[in-house]
Amino acid sequence: MKYTNNNNELTIKDVNKIVYLKGWVAKKRNLGGLIFIDLRDRFGITQIIVKPENENYELASQVRVEYVIEVKGVVVERESKNPNIKTGEIEIIASSLVILSTSETPPIIVSDDTDASEEVRLKYRYLDLRRPIMQDYLIKRHKIAIAARNFLSKEGFYELETPILGKSTPEGARDFLVPARLYKGEFYALPQSPQLYKQLFMIAGFEKYFQIARCFRDEDLRADRQLEFTQIDVEASFVDQKDIIKLTEKLFKYIFKQVLDLNIKTPFLKMTYKEAMNKYGSDKPDNRFELFLNDYKAIFSEYNIPIFKSKRYVKGIIAKTNLSRKEIDKYTITVKQNHGESLAFLKVVDGEISGSIAKFVDKDIIGKIGLKENETLLLVPGDYEDVSQSLGALRLQIAEDYKLYDENEYSFLWVTDFPLLEYDKEDKRFYARHHPFTAPKDVDMLKNNPKKCLAKAYDIVINGYEVGGGSIRIHNEEVQKLMFETLSLTKVDIEERFGFFVEALKYGTPPHGGIAFGLDRLVMLITKTRNIKDVIAFPKTQSARDLMMQAPSTVDEKQLVELNISIKE
Ligand code: AMO
Repeated sequence: MKYTNNNNELTIKDVNKIVYLKGWVAKKRNLGGLIFIDLRDRFGITQIIVKPENENYELASQVRVEYVIEVKGVVVERESKNPNIKTGEIEIIASSLVILSTSETPPIIVSDDTDASEEVRLKYRYLDLRRPIMQDYLIKRHKIAIAARNFLSKEGFYELETPILGKSTPEGARDFLVPARLYKGEFYALPQSPQLYKQLFMIAGFEKYFQIARCFRDEDLRADRQLEFTQIDVEASFVDQKDIIKLTEKLFKYIFKQVLDLNIKTPFLKMTYKEAMNKYGSDKPDNRFELFLNDYKAIFSEYNIPIFKSKRYVKGIIAKTNLSRKEIDKYTITVKQNHGESLAFLKVVDGEISGSIAKFVDKDIIGKIGLKENETLLLVPGDYEDVSQSLGALRLQIAEDYKLYDENEYSFLWVTDFPLLEYDKEDKRFYARHHPFTAPKDVDMLKNNPKKCLAKAYDIVINGYEVGGGSIRIHNEEVQKLMFETLSLTKVDIEERFGFFVEALKYGTPPHGGIAFGLDRLVMLITKTRNIKDVIAFPKTQSARDLMMQAPSTVDEKQLVELNISIKE
């Protein structure tokens, strides 16, 4: 098919050229007998005019939105120019027009400011994806993936694939299982990540591996979480934490330059897990704004405040504003939704102190806290985890309400020195915080005081999103066994689940480590959307359904019989 230009290409320099254009009809108007068509393709819009004397005028009047047409015409300068689009100085006077495909009235308006609900958009995703903003998201996704690929390949990493049908690896979420037709009662598991495979590549001597890998986790969905997502997965031998950090910074510098033409500053800031939790109440702090958490236990222990009594922690943040009752009510809900027991507050207005605990304190408290006129101190009592988590969430809510950060800023941050293990009070056992292949900082500590043992693990955080995480791995069979034992796995468990891996560690395992970046989250940050569904072509809804294909769905009885599966009523 003849095709001379795309729809955002022609400018005043092209006046008098004869061109052939193709695309979808974004808009059609009839003004005083002239037919105006906005022709759209993946690049942009060009305005077409069909005059009454044109032999295709009749055909042009039948054209409706989302028809696919081909136009031949001459480029002319526009009388009233449109500075908002690249082709706004010209228009095409059509000499011929062909309808290549008709369209029924689309169920959504194919434009950036569509008013369609998310449900309808997902049901007709192919129409939703015609919207320029959606195309921009996916094109940026492509650019990021290509940049990562090119960079890592240039750095000597091999792109190697790993199976989708495998054995479950413990990333902490529920597995998706696939029944094995040939082996009654047995299942493959879809990978939560290629973790063990990439370590086996190191044992196999590839030294540097990467993969843009699809991962599957059956967990509750959130604005930044899907059931299937993509990692830029990396592993290297003979490296330590510093090397992985350096490589990551170089990779991010490259991606941001390639995709946004932005020069980002390296090295990124580093913060220990402890500092992040203490100051920000989060292991993925948004450090574009301050609003730090402070410990107020000592100050308030001088007063007799019933809700603070016998609480291990009383922490708080100072909002630099006189919060209204309505705002306090809203923030109380935020605190409670994030495991906080209660929200107490104090404020100073016209030199007078007021608030939910004002009657228990005296004026001296203002000086002790350093509370200024028209500021509000928000306090949560309780255990460390609950206090931190709830104040961490509150700080984000206040920052959003009061626009405490610059939307255009990117703040890169490494969080390091995570605890290796997490103790579960209900199950009365430890779980690995990252995964059980992460190396302890100190093996003796793992033996003698596992609770206190730190990990050689690191997360990369951008604007409060955990964009990637990794670690230096255990490469010694004995340490790996110790780790499994600390996780209360019996010899039989270890043999059944990881026997192949413990065996592999016996045959000359190089020291190694790696990291995996959430590609979807990186695209979200770069495109500045807050909804992970925007950057995935065919995502699942919050309730884990594909509304377009209607998945999941029931299957034929014959398929179930073949798989030896019967469904319980
Ligand atoms: P981790 O579990 O931290 O590490 O995952 C790495 C990164 O993947 C992204 N991510 C997700 N993105 C969207 N939806 C999800 N459900 C989801 N879960 C995780 C996050 C996260 O930082 N094998 C290890 C990595 C390693 O040790 O090298 C792993 O998978 O951005």
